[in-house]
Amino acid sequence: MPPPLYCVTDATVPATTTELLAEACAAQGVAYVPVDVGRFDPCEEIELRAGDLLFRPAVSYAAVRVEQALFADSVATFYASGEALCFDGAAAPLLFARRGLPIPRTVTLLRNDRAQQRRAVELLGGLPLVVKVPGGEGGVGVMRVESWASLVSLLDHLFAGGRTPQLMTYVADAVHWRVVVVGSRAVAAYRNHPYPDDFRSGPSHDPADYEVPSPSPLTELAVAATRAIRRELAGVDILAHASGRLYLLEANFPCYFPQAQVVGGIDVAGAMLEHLLAKSRRLLEI
Ligand SMILES: Nc1ncnc2c1ncn2[C@@H]1O[C@H](COP(=O)(O)OP(=O)(O)O)[C@@H](O)[C@H]1O
Ligand SMILES: [Mg+2]
Repeated sequence: MPPPLYCVTDATVPATTTELLAEACAAQGVAYVPVDVGRFDPCEEIELRAGDLLFRPAVSYAAVRVEQALFADSVATFYASGEALCFDGAAAPLLFARRGLPIPRTVTLLRNDRAQQRRAVELLGGLPLVVKVPGGEGGVGVMRVESWASLVSLLDHLFAGGRTPQLMTYVADAVHWRVVVVGSRAVAAYRNHPYPDDFRSGPSHDPADYEVPSPSPLTELAVAATRAIRRELAGVDILAHASGRLYLLEANFPCYFPQAQVVGGIDVAGAMLEHLLAKSRRLLEI
């Protein structure tokens, strides 16, 4: 009997996510056990057994706490180690840079100082540039700024709200790729196209834009980014410049993996489950 998959979920998790995971489980004879964050009782301990599988598609603070409560070193997860479970990716750009992974030039502003902003803009190669406020998703908090008047008025607003914005070189003429990594393999890659009237982009609705990629600099970068955030699953955003240069934007965990499955027909959930099952077998052998 294969071990069960415990899935930490809540009302914000798209139904497709849990449906695909449940289907992948059914296909492999794995019991799918949803753990609803809204109903979780921290006084009533659920103890997972050695080799059980655990995944958290929910992203709330509470969901992270539930996952931490369920975790044990003998449980198979997408975390590279037990400590990685308590590591959040907020410092990821710094980690990426330290590992020599190419990111757009980035300066994190810690106070509202015009002279410093002038130096930062010069360092980044001038305007336009991107202002990124960490913590958003779906492009919210990623803003393109074309003039000094826009930049200083926006920064005043962000600092008044207690934010620490990042300034980033604007990468023009680039294709935005999303690469889905499972373990140390890129299982899907797809183009994101800019939304009308916007510089930000979203996933394509054309199945032809989706592929199971062969190893390339793009997939190598995605795998390295996933390793840097100490995960074995991530949705990695990369800008591929017309010159061939690659710029790593972020590695998301958890990520909305169903996109590549529903539109691109690539069995990501199956690959995820296989990864966890293989890890479970390794854990039980020790
Ligand atoms: N430095 C940049 N230059 C050009 N476009 C960028 C840059 N950074 C982000 N973008 C665009 O903004 C969008 C959101 O960026 P991303 O870093 O993936 O943030 P999010 O966390 O919101 O997904 C993407 O479509 C990406 O192409
Ligand atoms: Mg993104």
